[in-house]
Amino acid sequence: MTTNKLFNLEGKTALVTGAGSGIGQEISKTLYNAGANLALAARRKEKLEETKSMLNNKSQNVEIFSLDVTEENSISDCLVEINKTFASVDILVNNAGMTIVGTLDKNEEDDWNNVINTNLRGPWALSKFWLKSRLEKDQKDGVILNVSSITGEAAQKGNGIYAISKAALTHMTRQMALEWAKYNVRVNAIAPGYFRTDLNSEFLDSEMSDPMIKRVPLRRPGNITELEGPILLLASDAGSYMTGSILVVDGGHLVRDL
Ligand code: NAI
Repeated sequence: MTTNKLFNLEGKTALVTGAGSGIGQEISKTLYNAGANLALAARRKEKLEETKSMLNNKSQNVEIFSLDVTEENSISDCLVEINKTFASVDILVNNAGMTIVGTLDKNEEDDWNNVINTNLRGPWALSKFWLKSRLEKDQKDGVILNVSSITGEAAQKGNGIYAISKAALTHMTRQMALEWAKYNVRVNAIAPGYFRTDLNSEFLDSEMSDPMIKRVPLRRPGNITELEGPILLLASDAGSYMTGSILVVDGGHLVRDL
C-alpha cells in the first residue's frame, strides 16, 4: 500500500468532541485533510463554526452538533442528530477535557465531579452510546481515539484530579480495547505532553514553566501540528493492528533523567 493510501480516510466520518479549540481543532483539521467527513461537537457552537470555517478547501461534509459530554441526554440527542446526517460514524475522538487545579486536600467535591464527569465519565458514556448506535445498524468495525495525557502515567503536583481522570481514561482505553475487539472496534489513546492551548497557556506563561521545560529532553513544548502523525496513525488503517495502545507524544518528558 502507498503511504497516501495507508493514512487515507476518504469515505469515513469522524466525530470529534471539543472540536472548537486547541487539540480538538487540530485533530479535526488532520482528519479532514486525510479525507474524512466531520461531525464537530461541543457546547459552544460559535467555536465550532470557527473550526468549520478553517476547513473549506475540500469537498467533504462538515457539520456542527451541540454536545455536553457530562449529560447523557445531550450525548444521546447528539448521536440521534448525527445519525440523521451521516450514514455512520466510523471514528470517535474523545477529546473534550478540562482541569481544575489544586492539591487533593483542598479540592472540593464539585471539582472532582466536574473533572471526572468531563474527562472520564463523558468518554465512557459517549463511547457506549456510539457503539450501541452502530450495533443497532449492524455496523461492526470502528475506531475510538481517546485524548489522554502524560499525567495519566506520572503524578503531577497540584493537578491531581485531572491526573487521576487521565490515568483512568488510559486504563479505560485498554479495558474497552479488550472488551470491544469482538466488534472489531479498535480503541487507542494519545498521551500528549505539553502543547500550548487554552487549557495551559496561563501555566506556560508563568514562572513555573521554565523549570518544567528543562525537564523535557527536547527542551520545548510540542507544536500542535506535531500531533498530526500520531493522530493519523491511530485513526487510519496504518494502525490496523493497534488496539489498547497509548501513544506518548511528549518530547521525551516521561523519560527525563533521574
Ligand atoms: P482546550 O481547553 O482548548 O480544549 C478542550 C475542549 O473541550 C474545549 O473546546 C471545551 O469547550 C471542550 N469541553 C470541555 N468540557 C466539555 C463538555 N462538558 N462537553 C463538551 N465539550 C467540552 O484544551 P486542549 O488542550 O485542546 O485540550 C483538549 C484535550 O487534550 C483535553 O482532553 C486535554 O486534557 C488534552 N490534553 C491537552 C494537553 C495540552 O498540552 N494542551 C496535554 C495533554 C492532554
